[in-house]
Amino acid sequence: MSKYILPVSVFGTVFGCAVLLKNHVTGGRCKSKATIHGKTVVITGANTGIGKATARELANRGGRIIMGCRDMEKCEAAAKEIRGKTLNPHVYACKLDLASLKSIRQFAEQIKKEESRVDILINNAGVMRCPAWKTEDGFDMQFGVNHLGHFLLTDLLLDKLKESAPSRVINLTSLAHIVGKIYFEDLNWENKKFDTKQAYCQSKLANVLFSRELAKRLQGTGVTVNAVHPGVVATDLGRHTGLHQSQFSSSVLSPFFSMLVKSPELGAQPSVFLAVSEEMEGVTGRYYDVMTEKEPAPQALDDEVARRLWEVSSRLVGLKEDRQTLPAGSNQSSAVETKKLSPRTVAAAGDSRSGTTIN
Ligand SMILES: NC(=O)c1ccc[n+]([C@@H]2O[C@H](COP(=O)([O-])OP(=O)(O)OC[C@H]3O[C@@H](n4cnc5c(N)ncnc54)[C@H](OP(=O)(O)O)[C@@H]3O)[C@@H](O)[C@H]2O)c1
Repeated sequence: MSKYILPVSVFGTVFGCAVLLKNHVTGGRCKSKATIHGKTVVITGANTGIGKATARELANRGGRIIMGCRDMEKCEAAAKEIRGKTLNPHVYACKLDLASLKSIRQFAEQIKKEESRVDILINNAGVMRCPAWKTEDGFDMQFGVNHLGHFLLTDLLLDKLKESAPSRVINLTSLAHIVGKIYFEDLNWENKKFDTKQAYCQSKLANVLFSRELAKRLQGTGVTVNAVHPGVVATDLGRHTGLHQSQFSSSVLSPFFSMLVKSPELGAQPSVFLAVSEEMEGVTGRYYDVMTEKEPAPQALDDEVARRLWEVSSRLVGLKEDRQTLPAGSNQSSAVETKKLSPRTVAAAGDSRSGTTIN
């Protein structure tokens, strides 16, 4: 028996210290006390996890909060809870399914009609390592929701963001982008064996590349764009992974894991920091690891890949190049919506090496 005492106490001490220190080690709280009375925040995937905690903190700071979620029952319940806890009555639940271009357009139309301004857009919703599901429009679910859905939503809200400038766009990415690659020849995993991990990493790399390219195109408009990795946070994000699927891991390992990682409240701090802090005024096109600016992976710094991803994404969601979102000084033609092309056709068209023409 005594031979177990030493290893058990060492483990207990290390575990205890890790739990006690984790809040400090994992980044702590946003130090800014800025309030956002009179400002409107749109946040996607706000019914749970980091999104819900972000919505609550920004409601606490006085913002008018529009929560865009796919499940209205969960969204209404979360909005009601936030109104009750923060005593801010201006917290609203709105239907937004990022796996449907139609739903995204309807959501954006509603915002444009009903809101006089959009000061902060937080592209937070995400799906991780799900099976080879497709969106309503036939895109890989992770690429479709995490990247394309937010790409279209942001584009549709750009006029409002510009009218409300100085305004901020925050894209939730992940450290996982460092092993990501953009598979231009097959963005939607139709011609190769589906790899759910790589599909997530591709989508998170796309978030960083999108932020970089959008920031460039928005120079001089007063709209800033940054990407952020929130750290490792105890949320439902792993719902499609093994950890959540077996009885043993969900009842034994998960609670243990939750003690070691950040709470959603702390996980929301990086988004809050980027959204409200004075320090972030005018800062654009950057990548943040929690609340520290870092250089992203080399493939996230490739301007040619970022431009190409933008063009392919525009065509996939049915948008054409827009004068206002072209880099300053560009004299290309102004915005028109174009016929949405099939995922396969556009992926091929986006790959200059394939030689395929768009039809
Ligand atoms: N947790 C982490 O450790 C971590 C680490 C790195 C990056 N991130 C990023 O942080 C963001 C937030 O994740 P989280 O950890 O808070 O995960 P979460 O608890 O699973 O929350 C994800 C949110 O996205 C929503 N969502 C999923 N598919 C959607 C769709 N088609 N349309 C609209 N909303 C949809 C979910 O709605 P339902 O509840 O209806 O499914 C949920 O509200 C994600 O972008 C994720 O990639 C998280």
